[in-house]
Amino acid sequence: MEQKIKSIEAEAKTFSIASNLELENFRLKFLSKKGLIPALFEEMKQVPAEEKKKVGKVLNELKQLAEAKFKTAQLELETGSDEITEDIDLSLPVVSSKLGNQHPLSLTRYRIIEVFERLGFNLADGPEIEDDWHNFTALNFPPNHPAREMQDTFFVEKNPDILLRTHTSNVQIRLMKQQKPPIRAIMPGRVYRNEAISARAHCFFHQVEGLYIDKNVGFADLKQTLYHFAQEMYGKDIKIRYRPSFFPFTEPSAEIDISCLICKGKGCNICKHSGWVEIAGSGMVHPNVLRNCGIDPEEYTGFAFGMGIERVTQLLFQVNDLRLYSENDIRFLKQFKTVLS
Ligand code: PHE
Repeated sequence: MEQKIKSIEAEAKTFSIASNLELENFRLKFLSKKGLIPALFEEMKQVPAEEKKKVGKVLNELKQLAEAKFKTAQLELETGSDEITEDIDLSLPVVSSKLGNQHPLSLTRYRIIEVFERLGFNLADGPEIEDDWHNFTALNFPPNHPAREMQDTFFVEKNPDILLRTHTSNVQIRLMKQQKPPIRAIMPGRVYRNEAISARAHCFFHQVEGLYIDKNVGFADLKQTLYHFAQEMYGKDIKIRYRPSFFPFTEPSAEIDISCLICKGKGCNICKHSGWVEIAGSGMVHPNVLRNCGIDPEEYTGFAFGMGIERVTQLLFQVNDLRLYSENDIRFLKQFKTVLS
């Protein structure tokens, strides 16, 4: 009996398993119910009592050996056997797979968010399909006021009360309705205007709105916040100027220009030879807007600003055609991988 076990053991040891088929053959031959090892256990019944212990030990060793061999081979076949790794030629050049990268507008958006988050601004979000009240009325656009036409609006045909938001200022309103001051938030998002698509205009683009409402917030806070932003974005040497302007929802209002990065203020095509480029609209939140949102303008004041992400990006990278951002041309998009951190 012992002799028989030894010879089956030798057979099991030399059995080569290089494929799933051979693995299965091994199992059938040695381990399955009708296999050699269970048969040996059957034979154990005939072994004289005094030898049982000794023979049993040898038989158990064979069983363990066969099971271990089966498991190891199974694992190797699952994870890729040694033979395959031996075939790999490590001296071959690497075929690198192309990784995607972030869209330039996303890179800029993250950078804008980062700057304001460091100043304690939270992120807020709102709907792109909006009603007239949040996009216009609450923002102090009187009905039929020409200011509504400053922004060529896409209305929903069946219900002209519903429109595609023309600016991110709708989120200001939603935020002020939801939260009590102090409020300090920035609101990035996509906006829509009914404009013919050209290098300088598009039917959709992206803005970041900023809002800061608290007691004693003044115009100086607005100026310093945006000056800080411009420096963080474009470097310490940047110059900034405020031009009086008009928005129904801010009073006073100002448009913000920064010194042209291309010609450093000397005058070029980008700045139309003025040395300055517009970067944002801004102003002190109009008391009517605060009132529309249930905030007492006697107690609280605040500033708001809105900037175009495409514009901020254009000034960072000198991209002078807005259409490039939405054409999905890989040759354009892949250039922005490493420029920003
Ligand atoms: N909503 C204005 C626009 O789209 C920008 C703006 C935002 C101006 C906040 C002032 C304050 O042109």
